Amino acid sequence: MNIRKDFLPFSRPSIGEAEINKVVTCLKSGWITTGALCKEFEDKFCQLTTASKAIALNSATAGMHLTLSALGIGEDDEVITPSMTFASTVNMIALRGAVPVFVDIDYGTLNINADLIEKSITSKTKAIIPVHFAGAPADMEKINRIAQKHNLIVIEDAAHAVGTYYKGIHAGGFGHIAIFSFHPIKNITTGEGGMITLNDAELEKKLRMLRFHGIERDAWKRYGKGGNPSYDIAQPGYKYNLPDILAALGVVQLERLQEFNTRRSRLANLYLEWLKGIEGIEVPQSPGYDHTHAWHLFVIKNLTMDRDGFMNQLAEYNIGYGLHFPAVHNLSYVKKKYSVDNGSLKETNRAADKILSLPLFPDMLEGDVQYVCSAIKEIMKNA
Ligand SMILES: Cc1ncc(COP(=O)(O)O)c(C=O)c1O
Repeated sequence: MNIRKDFLPFSRPSIGEAEINKVVTCLKSGWITTGALCKEFEDKFCQLTTASKAIALNSATAGMHLTLSALGIGEDDEVITPSMTFASTVNMIALRGAVPVFVDIDYGTLNINADLIEKSITSKTKAIIPVHFAGAPADMEKINRIAQKHNLIVIEDAAHAVGTYYKGIHAGGFGHIAIFSFHPIKNITTGEGGMITLNDAELEKKLRMLRFHGIERDAWKRYGKGGNPSYDIAQPGYKYNLPDILAALGVVQLERLQEFNTRRSRLANLYLEWLKGIEGIEVPQSPGYDHTHAWHLFVIKNLTMDRDGFMNQLAEYNIGYGLHFPAVHNLSYVKKKYSVDNGSLKETNRAADKILSLPLFPDMLEGDVQYVCSAIKEIMKNA
């Protein structure tokens, strides 16, 4: 086959004239940091998720840090999460002085295996953080049941889950806390950004204060006509607010969510069809329960080739790729700091060195998917 001349990236944000116009309007408005556009973005996010509160932030990582802080999860508390996740979650657990407890995944979906959670619970466990991996929901009914029984908080890592539904309920719609990401490769983007959704008014107040130095009122309220610029701080906070320039992007991107995810789903289904039967390649499995997949990522497993070699070959075909994720329990600081029972993470370990994410983004062409599949076929044949 002929090698394409242009590089096919692993991901590229889809930004149109509407987003650009909205940002320009914001830039000309005289107010560019957190304000009315942020509020509009938050309100729209509540409508999507059915959560009653939404708090916009400058990243999902910030959202995790704020949430763990506001809940008082810290020194020696245990937090259950998969190791097959982005390191940011475990970094935040570690920075709070808490201890991550890793639960194995289902090999096919790469989602946390909810049946294994209960045996990892101890008297120190405070929270469960499932990840809706690649946009496929974790088994929320089972997880919520376990959390209720043991009086634990559930924090959904919904970084991949804008547009993910579990049995008709959007991620974040289960009555507890969820955290979404708007990093440029995500299903909608604000450049960088995140959102916490929840239903608890007290916790919301605390999160909003901690989001902005510990100050109770947002700057746009203090500096508006008749506002009082004075403030008090009862507890020191962070600087994690989302500026309106970025919220402007988010408002328009959210309006385009259906368009984006329909396209992602179409491309993912073409991958599933065209990769079928290539020896040595395993395609992602979808959960058995009723769900809508947001297809944030398309993660395959190469059973026969060394991953570095496979990546080099893809690069020769001018194809980009991603790695989601290096298993967190194998990171140096995690190995040094925590005693992880490797034997309990068999499926994570089985998947960890085989996985690779293929290009998937809404502006990708069907011909691009075909090209990637043909290239993989050729690479595997010659391996
Ligand atoms: C599973 C998961 N959790 C959390 C994050 C953190 O998101 P952010 O980059 O917005 O901080 C990411 C980002 O890639 C992620 O994939």
